[in-house]
Amino acid sequence: MKWWGLILGALVVASAGLLNGGPAGAQTGQTDQAAQTGTPTPPAAAPAPLKAAGGGAVKSIDQQVQDVLKTCAGCHGVGAANTTPTRPDIAGQKAEYIRRQLWAFKGQAAQSRKNSVMQHTLSNVPENLFAPLARKIAQLSCVGEPAKGPLAAAKKPPLKEPLPRPQAAGTCAVCHGANGIGVQQQVPNLAGQKRAYLRRQLLLIREAAWGALPREGEAWRKHPILAERIARFKISDIDALAGYYASLDCRGDILK
Ligand code: HEC
Ligand code: HEC
Repeated sequence: MKWWGLILGALVVASAGLLNGGPAGAQTGQTDQAAQTGTPTPPAAAPAPLKAAGGGAVKSIDQQVQDVLKTCAGCHGVGAANTTPTRPDIAGQKAEYIRRQLWAFKGQAAQSRKNSVMQHTLSNVPENLFAPLARKIAQLSCVGEPAKGPLAAAKKPPLKEPLPRPQAAGTCAVCHGANGIGVQQQVPNLAGQKRAYLRRQLLLIREAAWGALPREGEAWRKHPILAERIARFKISDIDALAGYYASLDCRGDILK
């Protein structure tokens, strides 16, 4: 009975061909170019044009991202690092890491992080903007200048003198890189991050590793990968780690 299958298959292929390049497409007037170039017609569910119900133009995702970014800049100074010790610098951070943090703050991801300031801020940010917003922030230069272009190199601030690597940081490099730049998209760059911010995050992670549970209105952060190791760290280890990573250049360049 194999021939049945063959015939059926041939019919399916033939009709699919008709739908794609044939009469169905011609009706929409979209296949003229496709017929010449062999480009397949867009799927039926092509994105709707950005028009509001009343006919007025709706802001593009990119414009919405730009608008939201202004509110972020108020605290994070994206594009030019902020000066508040407990507010992290986010310009140039890994896109996937940022996206995951936004979900975590908003309480959508498995509970891994709580911060009332960020939760409040994100209550006005639609979730479909998280990914494009994260990508945009990741493209910004961590030293506050255009990441690309002929002027970028000329305006580069000089490299900072890094502190010697503390013993406690020995195992971190597998994921966070020998220069403090995350080796994967979901692993954050630590290089050049705020010292006070890093110290606080590490202390929160240690609290959770010791069994602390989230409490209403309090900051909380869990980091299972680090839990076992960090539970044994002393405050002096944590101070050394925070100081060391803050002293590295956020661009990942290491002074020889
Ligand atoms: C009112 C001040 C404020 C505003 C506005 C704000 N943030 Fe934050 N943000 C913070 C603080 C404080 C933290 C540190 C939270 C913590 O300790 O867990 C933070 C943390 C973050 C982090 C985590 C960084 C890391 O290294 O883990 C990301 C990502 C972030 N903010 C993105 C944004 C984005 C995107 C916006 C704009 C939609 C924004 N923030 C607006 C104050 C702010
Ligand atoms: C197996 C990989 C891995 C190792 C090893 C590792 N980390 Fe991480 N680290 C991660 C990932 C992934 C995240 C992001 C977690 C999240 O999404 O919340 C992270 C997050 C962090 C953060 C939060 C950064 C921020 O901006 O808030 C700090 C601080 C940190 N790690 C420090 C360390 C230190 C110090 C060590 C070594 C003692 C270490 N990590 C070892 C994978 C690792």
